[in-house]
Amino acid sequence: MWYPGHIKKAKSKIKTYLKTVQGILELVDARAPYASRAYEFEDLFKDKDRIILFNKVDIADEKNLIFWENYYKSKGYKVLKTSLKNVSIKSFLTKVVYKSFQKKFSELRVMVAGIPNVGKSTLINSIKGKKSLRVGNTPGVTRGVQWISVNDQFMLLDTPGILYSEIYNKKIMYKLILIGSLKPEEDEKEFAIEYGFNFFKEKYPEIIRNALKSDVIPDDYYNFIELFAKKRNFIASGKTYDTERAMTVFLKELSDGKYGKIVYDFPEDYDMLK
Ligand code: GTP
Repeated sequence: MWYPGHIKKAKSKIKTYLKTVQGILELVDARAPYASRAYEFEDLFKDKDRIILFNKVDIADEKNLIFWENYYKSKGYKVLKTSLKNVSIKSFLTKVVYKSFQKKFSELRVMVAGIPNVGKSTLINSIKGKKSLRVGNTPGVTRGVQWISVNDQFMLLDTPGILYSEIYNKKIMYKLILIGSLKPEEDEKEFAIEYGFNFFKEKYPEIIRNALKSDVIPDDYYNFIELFAKKRNFIASGKTYDTERAMTVFLKELSDGKYGKIVYDFPEDYDMLK
């Protein structure tokens, strides 16, 4: 679980580095464009040129992204969508991202930000290589922080502290578990699966069918997990099904997008959007 202590610590760290960048490239998981957003940091970033990058569109249900794209645009953000796993990241950065920022200086410096598991390392590592550079003497930048040079005019600051989404209700917590951004406590795992199962039954029944490789949709999440364990031959001692293992495997495959395209966030989930 993430507690305010984490947020406070990350905030103070990020504040220092913010002075050295002109822009923020904030990654979110396209499957939860609202829940995977680090709202706690909104105030810190408000004076910067900001892009929200919906990553993992390859496993997101694109028709349900339109609302969220418009939502962020209406708030003054630039919105980009991609699948970092499936594009040439270098050319995406130079041809799309660079051009989307307003350039005030000859060199553009941008902080890469985002909660866990949204694709920050995928982005950074792909361009790191020889060109990566440590800048210890830039004002406000302490040693050990990585600046990655995309080209002569474009530098990325590797996230100095992972952001945390503010979990102000259980739905957000379950969504973050289902997309793999939050490691669940034991009891939370089962609740998240129950939430996910009921959600899929209503909005994306094919996810359940694909997970089970069957046309049968069980009545409730527990029967689903038992059937999942049975199909995979996960047996615990005493010849019962190993539902613990089934839950872990299901969550991992689900967060990796193995069963189909999903968007978990709907405007009606959020009181302030009603
Ligand atoms: P932390 O290190 O926990 O902060 O995560 P991160 O934000 O650095 O994410 P990372 O780059 O490690 O990616 C998390 C997982 O998502 C990895 O398994 C990636 O392979 C996967 N991933 C990244 N981009 C994409 C994408 O566009 N599509 C899909 N399907 N998976 C992606």
